[in-house]
Amino acid sequence: MTSDRFEKLEAIAGKLPAIIELFKLEPKRLDNFVLRAGPLRADFSKQAISEHARDQLLHLAKDCQLEDWRKRFFDGEKINTTEDRAVLHPALRGVGGDKSVQKQVSDMRKKLRGFAEKIRKTGTFKSIVHIGIGGSDLGPRLVADGLAASTKNTLNLRFAENVDGASINDALSGLDPKSTLVIVVSKSFTTQETRMNAEAAREWLTKKLGKKAGANFIAVTANREGAEKFGVAADHIFDFWDWVGGRYSVWSAVGLSLQIAYGPDAFDAFLDGAAAMDTHFRDAPLDRNLPVMMALTGIWNRNVLGYSSVAVIPYARRLRKLSAFLQQLEMESNGKSKTRLGEDAGLTCPIIWGDEGTNGQHAFFQWLHQGTPGAPVDFVAVLKDHENRPEHHKALLANCFAQSEALMIGKSQMIVEEEMMAAGISKQDREILAPQKTFAGNRPSTTITLDELTPSALGHLIALYEHKVFVQGVIWGVNSFDQWGVQLGKVLATSILKELGGGKGDHDPSTEALIGLISPSA
Ligand code: F6P
Repeated sequence: MTSDRFEKLEAIAGKLPAIIELFKLEPKRLDNFVLRAGPLRADFSKQAISEHARDQLLHLAKDCQLEDWRKRFFDGEKINTTEDRAVLHPALRGVGGDKSVQKQVSDMRKKLRGFAEKIRKTGTFKSIVHIGIGGSDLGPRLVADGLAASTKNTLNLRFAENVDGASINDALSGLDPKSTLVIVVSKSFTTQETRMNAEAAREWLTKKLGKKAGANFIAVTANREGAEKFGVAADHIFDFWDWVGGRYSVWSAVGLSLQIAYGPDAFDAFLDGAAAMDTHFRDAPLDRNLPVMMALTGIWNRNVLGYSSVAVIPYARRLRKLSAFLQQLEMESNGKSKTRLGEDAGLTCPIIWGDEGTNGQHAFFQWLHQGTPGAPVDFVAVLKDHENRPEHHKALLANCFAQSEALMIGKSQMIVEEEMMAAGISKQDREILAPQKTFAGNRPSTTITLDELTPSALGHLIALYEHKVFVQGVIWGVNSFDQWGVQLGKVLATSILKELGGGKGDHDPSTEALIGLISPSA
């Protein structure tokens, strides 16, 4: 994809007034740029984008056959072409897919519900250790935190993901194997980190429970054979399917620990929330379509204004894992440099980063306000106080709203100088200090608010970002559903691991020297 198609947009951007001026020039700006879907309200009006520019972006989306791609996606066509797979995560929430897919999903939902209810009722297990990494970890962790806002969890839910021994040690520490259910989640069941952690957990169970350990050991996978070979009992394996990408899998059996900990009703409400976002994305006109608008403003910021990153700042402690989750969702999906046709894709996925507000304000917000070039921000806030701390909650929201305003309006050098003059600061000092205390402003942001942090709202939010990624992938022309870029490092790590045990390898001098630091021949 060449950048020519962005030239027209660049010309429009070059003539745009400041965002704050756009509010005066466009009296319907709020109507046009604030979109709603269920409990979610997204305010794009603080983006550096005019109504005319928005219209041109909508044309671009149409030119890229977005509506056609969207149909093919929901119809279950094999749009993951490099792996020859359909991409049907909406079917996990009951939207899209053919009859056989729908049946597979509803049978599995029944099975999971039954299993979760049984475990909750018998009360044998006090703790769950969820083992998995990447998509088999980040979604469940984010959702576990998010569900806690409105739903009680009576179990001790722990996660182990990293191959660093500290990860599984911390997860198992202080637990009684007898009352611990280990759930190993891996789509491929070949992931090194997960297999090693699963082996460690199995050993820990077996030491105390002997042959009965298998009763406390569950696998969730798309590779049933692999799990059986690993030694998991056939009736302790929950399947999902190759048409569910790892980073899109929290809606499947991958969410089993959540169902057990928070209950199947909360999990169903989470799925229903996502389904509502699916139908909104499928049916709403493009200019009122939340994922589409979110994607298009992202394209504008990346390909037209040239920003190379996006900060995601949830002003909600219980969403603090959102940016880590989105790093995989967005960067593993669209962090590509070639199109589906093998051509150069141009600028694609920006860096996604962030941390919870208000913490970030005392860390990297200096850079957001005055650093070069700064980054567009997604502010995410929850309107309802779930913590019975109304004063804290007001302060949290006040900070959130203030930051987006400050980024947009800035503070001119003239005002800074006037304030200094009034404070009796000399002209010489003013000349040195005023530029450093000035805020350029005109820094774009979107503010997404959730009425409440219910399971449904959480489902809406995650599905919103999933579909945003889909739209951007279509516009960049990349396959958002493979991840070849993770392979090379995995292959090299496997051969280096052998060399650390005494094998011989062939590497560059720097890598040889690193291996030499700990290999037996050193
Ligand atoms: O290494 C990347 C990756 O393949 C992700 O795409 C995936 O979510 C993660 O590893 C874990 O994979 P699995 O669920 O197969 O263990």
